[in-house]
Amino acid sequence: MKIQVAAHSGFCFGVKKAVETALKAAEDFEGRKIYTYGPIIHNHQVTAYLESRGIRIVEDLEQVPGEIVIVRSHGVAKGFYDQAAALKIRVIDTTCPYVRKVQQLAMKHHAAGCRVVIIGDADHPEVIGINGWTDFSARVEKSAEGLEDLRHEPRLCFVAQTTLSLAVWRAVAEKVKDFTGEVLLYNTICAATEERQKECEELASKVDLMIVIGGKHSSNTQKLYQIAARNCKNAIHIENASELLMNLNGKYDNIGITAGASTPDWIIKEVIEQLENEGEVIVNDER
Ligand code: F3S
Repeated sequence: MKIQVAAHSGFCFGVKKAVETALKAAEDFEGRKIYTYGPIIHNHQVTAYLESRGIRIVEDLEQVPGEIVIVRSHGVAKGFYDQAAALKIRVIDTTCPYVRKVQQLAMKHHAAGCRVVIIGDADHPEVIGINGWTDFSARVEKSAEGLEDLRHEPRLCFVAQTTLSLAVWRAVAEKVKDFTGEVLLYNTICAATEERQKECEELASKVDLMIVIGGKHSSNTQKLYQIAARNCKNAIHIENASELLMNLNGKYDNIGITAGASTPDWIIKEVIEQLENEGEVIVNDER
């Protein structure tokens, strides 16, 4: 049995930096309470580990006046910083530079009078945060299908959630081609997401079983799974090795593995180890 691990799988640099910054803050401010504004990443094992180091999650700044709050890589709305200042909260900001770029584009074009349209998941914290830089005036759509009524808008500015699937963005670009007003299109899908999705597609199309590892609520992991399922008839999404319950019994010769941006390395390793228990295995891990 051969196992191929996608070169770009697991923590992206934005998530890595956020986790490292949180752990460093726990050291630098030992004895003080530290909070992350929402879970730092969508991974229970990681948030449990951070909690063991004294880093808790808070959803409402009013509950932690005067404390230290870490902004996660998803970023936050503009108003967050004013609220934190009013509550004398010290902010440690780990907003990913890719997300920051989308926030700035949204703010700039909103201020210039464009109607901002965010293509992404309306409930995702990153999208809510981006919208917060347009005074929450942006339209959020998850695909090209919902855009028809914008056809005659005089000025539109499209941005993408950083983890959007490239196929969805392409469909949006195609759809708006004959819109009558001025249309600005900023493909803000981050490089890490794009690479990951391309590799997942390539790998899934040549293996018998494709395993996608990552949190069930992780948006980028869900997208990887959709890509895997489109390209491989045996694709599974698991959070960790304990969910890999099947007895493979030599059923698959070639197995591909990829993992979402919030999946730590040790979870990927545990899955590989579990597969190694199945018999003779050759592992090609290009990370
Ligand atoms: Fe940043 Fe992309 Fe990761 S936006 S947090 S590098 S998935």
